[in-house]
Amino acid sequence: MIRIQELQKNFNGLRVLRGVNLSIEAAKTHVIIGRSGSGKSVLLKHILGIIKPDAGKIFIDDLEITALSEKELDKIRIKFGMVFQGAALFDSLNIRENVGFLLYENSRFSKSEIKEKVTNSLSLVGLKDIETKYPQELSGGMKKRVAIARALCFNPSVLLYDEPTTGVDPIGADMINSLIKNLQNKLGTTSVVVTHDLNSAFKIAHSISMLFGGKIIFTGTPEDLKKTDDSKLRQFIDGNMSGPIKEVDI
Ligand SMILES: Nc1ncnc2c1ncn2[C@@H]1O[C@H](COP(=O)(O)OP(=O)(O)O)[C@@H](O)[C@H]1O
Ligand SMILES: [Mg+2]
Repeated sequence: MIRIQELQKNFNGLRVLRGVNLSIEAAKTHVIIGRSGSGKSVLLKHILGIIKPDAGKIFIDDLEITALSEKELDKIRIKFGMVFQGAALFDSLNIRENVGFLLYENSRFSKSEIKEKVTNSLSLVGLKDIETKYPQELSGGMKKRVAIARALCFNPSVLLYDEPTTGVDPIGADMINSLIKNLQNKLGTTSVVVTHDLNSAFKIAHSISMLFGGKIIFTGTPEDLKKTDDSKLRQFIDGNMSGPIKEVDI
């Protein structure tokens, strides 16, 4: 459903993506793992068309999105729900206004329609009776769930999650993992999750890819990854997950 071909991106000489190739199947959960700073968020932003590549192509259902104008992209973006790194909620807006943010901007919907859509989205993430609360009254895990509810408002066929469990306590993180799995089962969406949390990846993924040195160096099932003997993968799996991006050519 999503096909990425030879994607390259530099920032001021820093070669973040060096020819990424990746195919993502529809109606499954695909997790992209990698160290902090390896370019996971940058890759996700390319799929949404927020960042333009220096070279390479991305196809969504055989449509080359890297060749589209901003106006054409807007029509495609409606299919995507994005859960940004950190919950990215507005402190001055209540939960209903936060979840319905994009719906309020779109004059197609009446206030009562928005209210209903917001309530439905919140119930999908297991939250109710919090519409008039403010973000600062919620726990970190609840804020993430609100951010997921916001991404669900337009009934997306693709859900993109950027570090959904980062900064959440272990119990909250497990709740988010279950939620991602349940939503995938219930709605049949294509889910793409980027994370450096391997524990989460193993719990939710149908397939996993690893981004390293600006390329995808592995794609397979969680079981394949667990039994790999590749040294770079093993190092990551066995806990060496922090530290800056390594400048290596592979
Ligand atoms: N808009 C930008 N301008 C300049 N550098 C950027 C920009 N976005 C990301 N980078 C750099 O690209 C690298 C990868 O970033 P990122 O994708 O956020 O990593 P990850 O999500 O894997 O932690 C980092 O070195 C980061 O500083
Ligand atoms: Mg990131």
